[in-house]
Formats: sequence, structure tokens, C-alpha cells
Amino acid sequence: MQLKPLMVEYQQRVENQLETFLPEVQIQPPRLHEAMRYAVLGGGKRVRPLLVYLTGKALGTPLEQLDAPACAVELIHAYSLVHDDLPCMDDDELRRGKPTCHIAYGEALATLAGDALQTLAFQVLAKHASNAIPAAQRLQMLEILSIASGSRGMVGGQVIDLEAVGHELNLTELENMHIHKTGALICASVKLGALAGAILPEATALDKLGHYAKCIGLAFQVQDDILDVEADTETLGKTQGADQAKNKPTYPALLGLGGAKRMAAELLEQAIESLETFGQAAESLRSLARYIVTRGY
Ligand code: IPE
Ligand code: IPE
Ligand code: MG
Ligand code: MG
Ligand code: MG
Repeated sequence: MQLKPLMVEYQQRVENQLETFLPEVQIQPPRLHEAMRYAVLGGGKRVRPLLVYLTGKALGTPLEQLDAPACAVELIHAYSLVHDDLPCMDDDELRRGKPTCHIAYGEALATLAGDALQTLAFQVLAKHASNAIPAAQRLQMLEILSIASGSRGMVGGQVIDLEAVGHELNLTELENMHIHKTGALICASVKLGALAGAILPEATALDKLGHYAKCIGLAFQVQDDILDVEADTETLGKTQGADQAKNKPTYPALLGLGGAKRMAAELLEQAIESLETFGQAAESLRSLARYIVTRGY
């Protein structure tokens, strides 16, 4: 099965949905809503929504039940990028091929736009998750997204990242950082996709999907680190070499480029193995795993 047409279809779908969930710029305060829309719309690979859709699809869940969780996780991701780029964090000026949110709107508004995107994510999930999903599962989805976003997930990982600058991390510490700052939201995407059906999947299926997600979550950040070394700014849509310039602990810094690439390949193999029992239904999830470690931006 070809991944590309599915990616294009779901990227378009999530773009349309996000467009309807984000407040119009005419609504007060207009600059804030403009900044929120600027940070979310018209860019990004939408890997997390794709994971929600493809996981749901592998389990036979109708697409309409996947829209709200797909948007919720992308809103959290978009907010995390706005804050990640702030001068007090990575201090980056380019994101998704355009000036970062704080360059376009100023630091204060960018910070607040990030805050508002975060709460919008939970609003979308609480208000718009389909009634076809049992209420207990909808509650669980809210819990999953909040844990993955917070101090035990993405935000916790970001703090580890900032505190690690200029220090040598060993492999276990680096893995722990990546699993939190990037892996947590990727795992949440798969879990949300799995919970968005009319019935709860069996525990063994959830475990296998969970292992798949853990491997690709880590592989995603390994590839992000590799691209920071190997790609160019125009292709990346963000400044190449930013990690080295800021002395960030990364896989290429610790293992060299070859070592980092071997690690990504091993994680891919493990991710694919985890899906063995799903057969043909999980083919697009396998393709997405391959895409994650071979992507050029
Ligand atoms: C970049 O994420 C930040 C990381 C967590 C590595 P993506 O590579 O998914 O960024 P977009 O959404 O496609 O711009
Ligand atoms: C960011 O990691 C992870 C987030 C939680 C946003 P990076 O700092 O490596 O992401 P980029 O390279 O700026 O996209
Ligand atoms: Mg960062
Ligand atoms: Mg960054
Ligand atoms: Mg990076």
C-alpha cells in the first residue's frame, strides 16, 4: 500500500478540521487568534494526527471518530513548538519555513498563544469527541493527553533537555529525555487512535501498539537529531545545525551519525515486529514507521 496518498488525504482532513476548531481572527482578541492560527495552520507534517488516523483505521474505526483526537494532539504539538522556539528555550527564528511565532507576534503574545492552544486541545477533545466513543473511553483519552503533555511527559522532557545543555548525557539519560520530550505525544497519538473506537481493543493489542509507539517515538527524535546535522535549512524549514550551535545533547553527538542511524534502523525493526499480529490492517502504520526514519525533513 502506498502511504503518500493516504498522508495527503489525512493532512488535508486535519487541516480542514483544525481550521474549524481554531477561533476566527475576528473574535476578540484578534491578534491572539491570528497568532494561534499562524502557529497551527498551513504547515507541518502532521505526523501525530496521521498516527491517530492510521491506528484507528487499523482497528476499523470510522474517520469521523478520529478527527477530534487527531486535532487535539496536533494542537498540543503546535503549542509545544511555539514555546520550544522562544528565546528562553531554543531561541529559534524559523519554523515550518516561516518566522517563528514570537518573531512574528512578539514573545508575550506567542507565549499566550501557546497557552491558549494547549487549552483548546482539551476543549476540542472534551467537546467534540464523537458520542459513538463510550464516555469512559473519552475520559481516558483526556487523561492520556494530559499526562503525555505535562510534567511526566512532554514538558518534563523539555525541562530535561534544557537542564542537559552543556552536560554530557549517557545513552540511558538521552533516551529518557527523548522518550519524554517527543515520545510521549507520539505514544499518546497511537493510544488516542486506539481508544477512539466504539469498543476498547484487547489489552494485548493495546500493548503491541504501545510498543510500536514507543519505538517510533524515540526513532522520530533520533531522526530529528540526524536531520539537524545532515539536512539544509530550506528543506527543514527550521535552522540547520541549531543543536550543535546550542550544545544540545543529541544521538549524533553521542553515537556519531552512523551510530544514530543504526539506532533508528533498530527501532524501526522493533516497531514493525510489534505489529506482526495485526497483518494487513496495520500496513499503513508500518509504512509510517518507515517514513519516520527515512524522512528528509
Ligand atoms: C518537531 O516535530 C519537533 C519534535 C518533536 C522533534 P515535527 O518534525 O513533527 O514538526 P512539524 O509538525 O512537522 O513541523
Ligand atoms: C522539541 O525538540 C520537542 C518538543 C517538545 C517541541 P527539538 O527542540 O529538537 O525540536 P526542533 O528541532 O526545534 O523542531
Ligand atoms: Mg528543543
Ligand atoms: Mg527546538
Ligand atoms: Mg530538533
